[in-house]
Amino acid sequence: MAETPTSRPSAVRSLVLIAIIVIALIAAFAYTAGWLTPGRLTPAKIVDSLAPPDGAALGFRRNHAKGICFTGNFESNGAAAALSKAPMFAAGSYPVTGRFNLGTPDPKAPDATVRVRGLSLRVVAQGGSEWRSAMIDLPFFPVATPQAFYGLLKASANKKDPDAMKNFIAAHPEFGVFAKWAGSAPWTGSYAQERYNSLNSFVFTNAAGQDQTVRWSFVPAARPEAISADQLKARDADFLAADITQRVQSAPQKWTMVVTLANPGDPTADPSKAWPEDRRTVEAGTLVVNAIEPEPDGPCRDLNFDPTVLPSGMHVSDDPFPAARSAAYAVSFDRRTAEDKDYPRHPAGGATP
Ligand code: HEM
Repeated sequence: MAETPTSRPSAVRSLVLIAIIVIALIAAFAYTAGWLTPGRLTPAKIVDSLAPPDGAALGFRRNHAKGICFTGNFESNGAAAALSKAPMFAAGSYPVTGRFNLGTPDPKAPDATVRVRGLSLRVVAQGGSEWRSAMIDLPFFPVATPQAFYGLLKASANKKDPDAMKNFIAAHPEFGVFAKWAGSAPWTGSYAQERYNSLNSFVFTNAAGQDQTVRWSFVPAARPEAISADQLKARDADFLAADITQRVQSAPQKWTMVVTLANPGDPTADPSKAWPEDRRTVEAGTLVVNAIEPEPDGPCRDLNFDPTVLPSGMHVSDDPFPAARSAAYAVSFDRRTAEDKDYPRHPAGGATP
């Protein structure tokens, strides 16, 4: 067919436009993958750096790989409803799926060798609204930013430079404070005796639209009993799972949720800085753990306890950690669920123990 005088320039314009769109798309993919900015910290890099020297344990969480699931309830007393319109703060009982865990990428690490113990929760309210939280028993986080966390992982794995950790601590004095605490704070012999802390701050919004920055903790009903490192080492490698199973079989285990309110000027963006002891607190209710469930094939296996999964009435604050954690947990979740054949299976299922 003969071309009209106007059709050629318009065809060229269309081709140029298509080329621009294709180049922009490639550039966007390349940027997202970190190819254009090799120095930029990506979620994949941070997850890679969690792996032990002999590689990640396939099928397992890339951190907090050892743990045990549970089910229970959050019994809300209604007191936190003045702070947040989250449905699970209205007085009532809400089902919980959770996980006790250890801060290690090694699912076979002996319990006595892991300083950090965690509690992960998914609380569900009517209508499917969810609140997920992954807390640990440290009173403050070892470093101030996600970048520093990556720096710490790199420095501790750097066998070529004997000064790597020394230089890291010099540049991040908050880690020295943590190391001193970790070297002297007592250990307990049970998940049931630990206080678990959000460390990250979040913003609660009430029905009147008022915002309040908070952190929260789950304080155990069981009295913490200090136990020496030697006593711990004498125990079985998996004593924590056996202990919590036996305790929950005897009676439900409980924790009080305590919400701590920031004062203006408190460091809301830095989880390495605890807030002063005198801050106002509100007891929101009780976590009741009714049944221990197996980790292999258990109800928390396919759960990602992403700390940014929040109901209306709660949102992230200026703390940069939850967003960084969310991105890293998604990478870990994608990797471990793609490794289906290596997934921990219930022994009765005949696959991996
Ligand atoms: C940038 C900092 C952090 C990174 C990169 C990181 C990374 C990870 C990864 C990759 C997982 C495994 C997720 C999965 O496969 O489902 C995980 C689990 C976990 N993390 Fe973090 N984390 C960070 C900070 C924190 C902080 C500040 C806390 C507590 C205050 C925390 C507590 C936990 C807990 C309790 C789990 C176990 C969750 C579960 O049971 O599935 N993490 N973390």
